[in-house]
Amino acid sequence: MTIVIHTIQGVRRVMNQMRTAGKTIGYVPTMGYLHEGHLALVEQAKREADIVIMSIFVNPAQFGPNEDFDEYPRDLDRDAALAKEHKVDYIFAPTVEEMYPTEQTIHIIPGAIAKKMCGASRPTHFDGVLKVILKLFNIVQPDYAYFGLKDAQQVAIIETFVHDFNIDVAIRRVSIVREEDGLAKSSRNVNLTEEERQKAPKIYEILREGRARLARGTRLEEVQAYIEEALVKETGGVVDYVSILHYPSLTEPRLGEEMIIACAVQFSKTRLIDNVIVGED
Ligand code: PAJ
Repeated sequence: MTIVIHTIQGVRRVMNQMRTAGKTIGYVPTMGYLHEGHLALVEQAKREADIVIMSIFVNPAQFGPNEDFDEYPRDLDRDAALAKEHKVDYIFAPTVEEMYPTEQTIHIIPGAIAKKMCGASRPTHFDGVLKVILKLFNIVQPDYAYFGLKDAQQVAIIETFVHDFNIDVAIRRVSIVREEDGLAKSSRNVNLTEEERQKAPKIYEILREGRARLARGTRLEEVQAYIEEALVKETGGVVDYVSILHYPSLTEPRLGEEMIIACAVQFSKTRLIDNVIVGED
């Protein structure tokens, strides 16, 4: 059975009961409109923790003024049914008023790691992510929290945040779940036109080709230029960025260490992100 809780007080009460009973808590933060990417986080949480709680909250603080907060898809009944199928124990689905009853005047400002990649075109995005994540961690107080590598920069920033501020939660990374044609699953995929949806899988193909070229010894700048050109030509979208960086520090790449090749492509109504880690298939 999945129990849906709408209040902070309700979550605190139940989580305290669980802790008192000696149960470990696995937490999956989401903005809902669930797909198999989110559910992969649930599966891992189910394997590692005694009880699993998922939050569903479209967090206004992480959307810029011209971004898709209003268009972001929402369907709590559908999400609750999927969560139930996957044996999620609790859903925390607060309103905006519950989470932000007053204007917050204290902010968390991440440094250089949040200025790269998505941070360049979404300058306050990660401030908003950290704001809500700190609140949610304090409300749920989980033992483990699960994040997808689909949002690789987000994981890297949250890991740094938890480390720097001694937050008592173990962050777990989960691999990207893709459609059969390679497109990374995303709640935003429903906002692609039919034509865009057909071309979008090219993003992953191109990133993998870039990774193969790097492995063959092609210079980094050349690989980056290849990816940028191929994305423009083959997806029909507008390229926001292509980055090749050390992962998870998002600093300049170092020979022999883990690297990420990441990009964002803007389509007519939505912007997609994807990445590959160098060293994977
Ligand atoms: P959302 O976009 O709903 O994603 C919730 C979690 O699911 C994130 O950790 C994300 O990386 C993961 N996820 C999404 N698509 C995935 C895929 N195809 N494969 C694997 N994991 C995937 O990320 C957010 O929400 C928000 O920023 C949040 C952390 C909830 C804070 O508001």
